[in-house]
Amino acid sequence: MPAFRHAHLLDIASLDREDVLHILDTGEAFFGVSRRPVRKVPTLRGKTVINLFYEASTRTRTSFEIAGKRLSADMVNMSVSTSSVKKGESLYDTCKTLEAMHPDVVVIRHASSGAAAYVASKLDCGVINAGDGMHAHPSQALLDAFTIRRHRGTLEGLKVAICGDVAHSRVARSNCRLLRLFGCDVHIAGPRTLVPPHFAEAFDVEVHDSLAPALEGADVVMCLRIQRERLGEALLPSLREYSRVFGVGPKQLAMAKEDAIVMHPGPMNRGVEIDPAVADGPQSVVLDQVEAGVAVRMALLYLLAGEAGAAPEAA
Ligand code: CP
Repeated sequence: MPAFRHAHLLDIASLDREDVLHILDTGEAFFGVSRRPVRKVPTLRGKTVINLFYEASTRTRTSFEIAGKRLSADMVNMSVSTSSVKKGESLYDTCKTLEAMHPDVVVIRHASSGAAAYVASKLDCGVINAGDGMHAHPSQALLDAFTIRRHRGTLEGLKVAICGDVAHSRVARSNCRLLRLFGCDVHIAGPRTLVPPHFAEAFDVEVHDSLAPALEGADVVMCLRIQRERLGEALLPSLREYSRVFGVGPKQLAMAKEDAIVMHPGPMNRGVEIDPAVADGPQSVVLDQVEAGVAVRMALLYLLAGEAGAAPEAA
């Protein structure tokens, strides 16, 4: 297996098509490990990975932990809420303190855009961005691509509808970047207050202020969470009104291809951006995304912490 040419995973913008395919193919090599009776391989024995999450997470933090454990790495979850961060320790001092314990990879989630790149510039180990502000969530885009490729057989040239609160979504930004690498026809649908100006030009996508043109003939329907914690009233006066116009239910999904898949990065606001009938329906791949997350994060840890060029020991 060729060596990965990056020391960190900070955003999709720093990857090209071959990098993405390298990560997805490595994820495929690890996918089966999680379905075995003994879900462990020795690939990262003796390596140390630190999860450093300054923001809440269920899927990302847990799947990085499980990914590392399945590769036999020593996983450390640093609980920011019970750490010296609460005594005012800076991000710089926290990271230099952790570096002195010789981790191989630090996985960081932080509310500030650019925090992961800052940490990578200060530390002498691999850094994975597990979500920084509204900027990027590259491992989510990679697991989404992994899921799409498994269900559609390809990433090339698909029509993808991304619906909802794009303004606050690092998931949308990373997905747009990745999908455009593969020539996908990406359509954004959301209220003007929740799609930043110039988003279409910046990400080379089409933007609509209604669902229909985005959903019509789509291969993939990606619903985004309304980020209530980041919303002001001026942006969205009524969730009920939002749901009526931008909620994806069976009637809206019928505009997409008959075999379109429905995705959501989670956590979902059921009955707001997605109807439970769609979230739990036969076209939903939401839980497949979660399963893919473990395989893709195993691939990322292996590529950043493993021996360059070594086989993944997973087949
Ligand atoms: N998709 C995602 O990042 O979920 P969590 O916030 O639960 O990690």
